[in-house]
Amino acid sequence: MPDLEAYNQLERHVLQAVEDIQSTQSESELDQLRVSLLGKKALVTHLIRSIRHLPSESRPVAGKSAAAAKSRIEQELQTKRVDLRIAARNRRLESEKVDVTLPGRECSRGGPHPLSRTMDRMLEIFSGIGFDIVVGPEIEDDYHNFEALNIPPEHPARAMQDTFYFNDQKLLRTHTSPVQIRYMENNSPPMRVVAPGRVYRCDSDITHSPMFHQLEGLVVDEHTTFADLKGVLEYFVQEFFEVDLNLRFRPSYFPFTEPSAEVDISCVFCEGSGCSVCKKSGWLEVLGCGMVHPALYQNVGIDGERFTGYAFGMGVERFTMLRYGVNDLRLFFRNDLELLRQFQW
Ligand code: FA5
Ligand code: MG
Repeated sequence: MPDLEAYNQLERHVLQAVEDIQSTQSESELDQLRVSLLGKKALVTHLIRSIRHLPSESRPVAGKSAAAAKSRIEQELQTKRVDLRIAARNRRLESEKVDVTLPGRECSRGGPHPLSRTMDRMLEIFSGIGFDIVVGPEIEDDYHNFEALNIPPEHPARAMQDTFYFNDQKLLRTHTSPVQIRYMENNSPPMRVVAPGRVYRCDSDITHSPMFHQLEGLVVDEHTTFADLKGVLEYFVQEFFEVDLNLRFRPSYFPFTEPSAEVDISCVFCEGSGCSVCKKSGWLEVLGCGMVHPALYQNVGIDGERFTGYAFGMGVERFTMLRYGVNDLRLFFRNDLELLRQFQW
């Protein structure tokens, strides 16, 4: 049984307890300590329970010091618990801190395909000088793709373009020129339109692809001449390339224009000295053109005595090759990221 002396020693016990409480690092450690300091087997608990065995005159003193010890320990535990919680919260806040000054993660940007860029550029330039934009079907009939363009069956010009046929009548258009016919069938002069789109031919090498793009142009009005055609094309090429390139009008033949020409641009890859892209000629053919053949006016019911006009058909891939220095046209259709990444905005 403890005697009064044991109660007088409590102060030392409390000092040790306070020291132990102070040095805990976590709430679970503190919980364990709480059990050993205030639990059933704790010294303070034992002393409180033993007061009744003391002589009655000692009880008030013993009771007072036991109660004081207990409440001091409780208070210390409580204070420490609050401190530990604050410290834990601060640690969490510190670890969750966002550094708003860190540079952002790079996200890769896409961009329009070089052919789309060229097409957009072309349309912008022609819109700027008053051309309307129209479109026609990619699956065409023989009449619009050939016959109405003054290319009757058995005409040798059909061999100029290797055609993909569905059957006798339906085919994949080999050029955008049928849009001329469709537009003239439904509109009257004056007219000034461009028609962009995909065309198909059984053709493949570094300057030919079985699917490629053309931009057709058609102007019909009174007093339109070849000089107007030449002026518009020269203006367009200058605007498109933004540098002076040599342009060559070479007499040619198309059944739907008379006279006809093909336009070549000096090869940018060899600067005219001859390479594999220009097939050693120093020139790359980029478009066909000419004055609308009178037979077409008859086919669409336009007065060919009163109106004259010109038309042209540009190879969009060829213009893109020359502008961006891509030396193989087939690269445009390979989805090669190394090429396409160079065209991010
Ligand atoms: C024509 O297709 C005519 N319809 C152009 C025309 C329109 C002439 C209006 C007169 C009046 P041609 O087959 O030459 O013409 O093709 C025109 C352009 O398309 C060529 O100059 C070339 O730049 C491009 N081209 C032709 N074949 C291919 C091909 N397989 N791959 C990529 N581009 C091609
Ligand atoms: Mg040609």
